[in-house]
Amino acid sequence: MSDYIFENNQDFALTLDKNDELNQYRSNFLFPKEKNGYSCVYLCGNSLGLQAKNVSEYLEQELQDWSDFGVHGHTKAKRPWLTYHLQAREGFASLTGSKESEVIAMNTLTVNLHMLMASFYRPTQKRFKILIESTAFPSDRFAAESQIRLHGFDPEDALIEWEPKDDELLLEDYKKIIAEQGDEIALILIPGIQYYSGQVMPMEDLCSIAKKSNIKIGLDLAHAVGNVELELNKWEPDFAAWCTYKYLNGGPGSIGGAFIHEKYHGGDGSQQLLGWWSNDLSSRFKMEASFVPANDADLWQVSNPPVFSLTPVIASLKIFKQATFPKLREKSKKLTGYMDFLIQDKFENRITSITPIKNRGCQLSLVIKDESLNGKEIFNSLTEKNVIGDWREPNVIRMAPTPLYNSYEDVFNFVSRLEQSISETT
Ligand SMILES: Cc1ncc(COP(=O)(O)O)c(C=O)c1O
Repeated sequence: MSDYIFENNQDFALTLDKNDELNQYRSNFLFPKEKNGYSCVYLCGNSLGLQAKNVSEYLEQELQDWSDFGVHGHTKAKRPWLTYHLQAREGFASLTGSKESEVIAMNTLTVNLHMLMASFYRPTQKRFKILIESTAFPSDRFAAESQIRLHGFDPEDALIEWEPKDDELLLEDYKKIIAEQGDEIALILIPGIQYYSGQVMPMEDLCSIAKKSNIKIGLDLAHAVGNVELELNKWEPDFAAWCTYKYLNGGPGSIGGAFIHEKYHGGDGSQQLLGWWSNDLSSRFKMEASFVPANDADLWQVSNPPVFSLTPVIASLKIFKQATFPKLREKSKKLTGYMDFLIQDKFENRITSITPIKNRGCQLSLVIKDESLNGKEIFNSLTEKNVIGDWREPNVIRMAPTPLYNSYEDVFNFVSRLEQSISETT
């Protein structure tokens, strides 16, 4: 049962937009061009967020500082490159419910999973297994399998999988696996939101169960950061990692983010892969052979950060700060609720969402149930009508209205074009 009362007509959608105090932020973003006479309905922030208009100004500043100062831009640039990664700290901390000392912008997502597993996957002959979910994003699976192999174990024995029932991962099944094999599990690697179904995982419970069993746990927050509420410091995963090109609008292949709980700070550097940027800033450039560990998440940083990759993220985090996350989340629930309502109202059981109503962020994962319809053909037809979402094999259309730049009218237009596509492909 929805918390809102909705109507299936365009005027209603327009009224929702008119009364939406976040609607102004839409004009801060650049939308793909008109195609085949259709304006773009962009519902793909779960894959690649849109470019904020302030990005070119921010990038221009870095280019200007590079041309004006050359190497001295490290200290003289408007946002000095020497400490550039710190520009993301406040935004990352606020979106993940962490302390600023616990987060860091570095590398990319899968690289960060490896960097963090180097610290947190320390198998022994007795405790050597990694638990993932059976529908894990392939990169996470490959990363876990390769870590297992690098430590001399066989993924056949050491990789165990939590399987969904009817597309949903159930906490009781997770508990059962821990009860049966907990003594042998060294690490749990689980997403905050399952990429295919859009299910928001019960992260707090997953972490507390892992902790009680002395198992390290890491969260892949690719689909969760900037989308749903996170409280990492309180939930206490040992680590987390995310990308910034989805809901954080960092641009293709932009820099990743990582969280390392404060209880691991202050170490001597013997538990991680190191580089000169893991060294404390105060002596980083003395170029001495002895290592002085940074006493926060920076200890996991190896190289100097890619400034141009980080710049759009900083520009976008600024907009998040202005809009404020609680308001964005409130709008998100309503926007996705409206999409769900329209789908049910127009198509009843012919098209259904497999995303759990109570545990969802922006995204709905839609499955065409009517066997007389061909999901892939409908998706292709929608693409021709300039609706941008994504298709995930074998049969899901993922659509993610994001509160920062999508409108209720976008959602209404998507569902109208879906109806047209269905009538044209039948
Ligand atoms: C859940 C999840 N994990 C990992 C990745 C891989 O990210 P990257 O290519 O940045 O390492 C993605 C990319 O979309 C993802 O969605």
